[in-house]
Amino acid sequence: MASRLGIFCTSAMAILVAMSVGVIAVKEFKVGGEVGWMVPDATNTAMYSQWAERHRFHIGDSLTFEYNNDSVLVVNKYDYYHCNTTEPITAFNDGNSAVVKLDRPGPFYFISGAPDHCNNGQRLLVDVMSPHGRHPSPPSVAFPPETDKQGPSPSTLPSSGVVVSATLSSVFRVLIAGFVTFLWSAL
Ligand SMILES: *[C@@H]1O[C@H](CO)[C@@H](O)[C@H](O)[C@H]1NC(C)=O
Ligand SMILES: *[C@@H]1O[C@H](CO)[C@@H](O)[C@H](O)[C@H]1NC(C)=O
Repeated sequence: MASRLGIFCTSAMAILVAMSVGVIAVKEFKVGGEVGWMVPDATNTAMYSQWAERHRFHIGDSLTFEYNNDSVLVVNKYDYYHCNTTEPITAFNDGNSAVVKLDRPGPFYFISGAPDHCNNGQRLLVDVMSPHGRHPSPPSVAFPPETDKQGPSPSTLPSSGVVVSATLSSVFRVLIAGFVTFLWSAL
């Protein structure tokens, strides 16, 4: 009997640990995948918007930019669309990589600070999901309009990193089932 109680308690602990891991799981994205952060090939100038569309970004995730002879500028929306490098919010150009933490929901705008790189497609718009899963301010250009709000679309499937999810109701169902089993066997 004592060992059954022990097993039940151990399982309950394991479930609670798994749940807390799910809550704090964050992803580190390498921008551009293998290519990294550089001027896109002339035949593939939309590569960074395509890369962004293949991922979902949540608060707490981070982006790693890896580059050579280049830089990363965090800019506002206007400067993103106009490739204006003169007054960035933040500039990273000290070497070959930059890590940016996505610490709030909404859009983040990145452009290259190297001459003409942004104009040739080296810019990235990342829209961080709000905690409730809605886009707080859908950008008007880079994403299609309201049509994909009803459900997951192929372009928004999570495709990398660890996705751990456990809803409260399923956790409680497991806990209750375990408890009932334990009581049943104790009778
Ligand atoms: C970076 O610039 C230096 C000097 O201009 C050049 O020698 C080197 O090949 C460049 N590296 C890359 C990866 O373009
Ligand atoms: C870039 O932005 C600066 C500051 O906002 C502005 O003075 C400048 O005219 C802009 N340049 C272009 C090419 O839009």
